[in-house]
Amino acid sequence: MKDKYGILGYPLGHSLSPYMHSRYNFYLNNGSGYDAYEIASDDLESSLKELHTAGVKGLNVTIPYKQAVIPYLSSMDESAAIVGAVNTLKYTAEGYIGYNTDVTGLRNCLIKNGLEPKGRNVLILGAGGAARAAAYVAVRSGCKSLYILNRTLEKAEAVCRDFGGSSYDYSCLNTLPDTSFFVFQTTSVGMYPHIEDMLPLPDEMLNRFEAAVDLIYNPMPTRFLEKLSQRGIKTVTGFDMLIEQGLASRSIWNPEEKISDDIKRKVYDECVRYSRS
Ligand code: ATR
Repeated sequence: MKDKYGILGYPLGHSLSPYMHSRYNFYLNNGSGYDAYEIASDDLESSLKELHTAGVKGLNVTIPYKQAVIPYLSSMDESAAIVGAVNTLKYTAEGYIGYNTDVTGLRNCLIKNGLEPKGRNVLILGAGGAARAAAYVAVRSGCKSLYILNRTLEKAEAVCRDFGGSSYDYSCLNTLPDTSFFVFQTTSVGMYPHIEDMLPLPDEMLNRFEAAVDLIYNPMPTRFLEKLSQRGIKTVTGFDMLIEQGLASRSIWNPEEKISDDIKRKVYDECVRYSRS
């Protein structure tokens, strides 16, 4: 029987994962399917049960469920437990096990783009599951200091309790230290279809950014990154992270699966074209 996989989130109109994984499955000729499960938050628990009963072998989890899904898992691997967020679920008879491949994805994306948070003042915009993965990567790589800026201050405080650093909301922006920042943009602001949206950051502050990674890959680049590029600041879209976390998820679902460099390159190029179409 054909193996079933998919992605869980709301909304999912922006997601490239169904296309990306379907292209890998096509080239690998493995007969597997990958579907989008756009689920309202009230239905999260019952939907997960249904997917489990239906034998769905693996799931990706995206906004806004990377933390919300945790109570319904049978267990979590160590790095997902430390991060406190999951983006990959693997089927077992007892239930789904949660993993976090955003961490691997982000690390590999930084390496690929020659970026290194080590010794830098890292500013994370947002305080959800993706922000927690970014905080984990920043701290593990030896950042000099960590600042979490979020619309809801309590959530920024919660990230700081787990990873260190200082928390801010937009009302106390002027109390952020007067340094330059290495930035991770982890909120959904500016994501398709609301591509004109931007976080309320004053120009004076944007000028102090030395590099920025926006975890959003649709659009590519976001308005936020466009504004930074215009200032000559090094920017990286969420595309490489998407590709890298997707490969890491696949190796959790099927450790024996081998994907040649040729297939990786083809799927990468097709996803770039698809995201621009
Ligand atoms: P994920 O787990 O995938 O990171 P999430 O937990 O829903 O998703 O987190 C989304 C992040 O985007 C949060 O930091 C959220 O801010 P709040 O904690 O205040 O909700 C942020 N976000 C979403 N819409 C926003 C907006 N219009 N302005 C500012 N921040 C926003």
